[in-house]
Amino acid sequence: MKILVTRKLPKEMIKPLYEIPDSTVVMFDQEEIPMPKKDLLKEIRNADGILANLTDDLNREVLKEAKQLKVISTMAVGYDNIDMEEAEKRGIKVGHTPYVLTEATADLTFALLLSVSRNLPQAASIVKNNQWKSWSPFSYTGHQVHGATIGIIGMGRIGLSVARRAKGFSMKVLYHNRSRHIESENEVGAIYCEDIDTLLAQSDYVVLLVPGSKQTTHMFGEEQFKKMKNKAYFINTSRGTNVDEQALFHALKEGEIKGAGLDVFESEPIQGDHPLLELDNVLALPHIGSASIETRTEMAELTVTNLKNGLTGKPLVYEVQYN
Ligand code: GLV
Ligand code: GLV
Repeated sequence: MKILVTRKLPKEMIKPLYEIPDSTVVMFDQEEIPMPKKDLLKEIRNADGILANLTDDLNREVLKEAKQLKVISTMAVGYDNIDMEEAEKRGIKVGHTPYVLTEATADLTFALLLSVSRNLPQAASIVKNNQWKSWSPFSYTGHQVHGATIGIIGMGRIGLSVARRAKGFSMKVLYHNRSRHIESENEVGAIYCEDIDTLLAQSDYVVLLVPGSKQTTHMFGEEQFKKMKNKAYFINTSRGTNVDEQALFHALKEGEIKGAGLDVFESEPIQGDHPLLELDNVLALPHIGSASIETRTEMAELTVTNLKNGLTGKPLVYEVQYN
């Protein structure tokens, strides 16, 4: 049976795949770039299983080529790059990596929040570029995090972990979610805003944590940014497609909101000519939410286990449910 691994991983980590009887493992030889689309199309044709990444566009056309495919195991919690309808139609099992990345992603979310609120990138570059003249009363002053109001949109596992961190900073926690999340209300005193506009009007930090899907595409646009406070910050560590980037650019440029911390973009990677990068009040990161060595190791191991289980007739550890 053929197993395709679309990004170079340490051999030791994927050893369990080699141990599957009669398996042939084909692994892309680079770590920093995705497998070119034409190679993916060629290699997926006779693959039984694929260890994929969020950068692999496993759309209907690609999956249609994969006549033998039984299992997709993606090294991510999000699976918006996979056409789940086609997978369901063809009985392809899809595995992913929830839970193991929750805390690392919440850490990064909070790091972005703290960095934008206190202008860390600007301040750090002054020192590095040898432009630090003196302590000064009001240079680089940002806004207080302690005691401010955070509005979390999408109270899932990561949302709750962010709320716990916010609680440690004595923040008032508001949240919006499809349904009430009693655990967060009991544990950190999070306050449910059924109407998202209430949350937008009251929050000093708006944090977007909903999964990417057709339903959430551009859920943040002109209207939402207008409803935020002028001194509020927008943090996105979910999916770039959830945000209309043109509207975000406009809101930041016109001062409708104060700043943004972004780990994800509509089309990744963004390059130097991307409009958002012109703006001083944007902190942009290269999609590193889960990027701690501990978490990425756990994700890789879980991805391998999901794939091996699926190919040897055992239940996946975390299988994405079809709709
Ligand atoms: C990262 O964005 C993931 O979905 O794991
Ligand atoms: C994602 O929602 C996770 O924490 O697994």
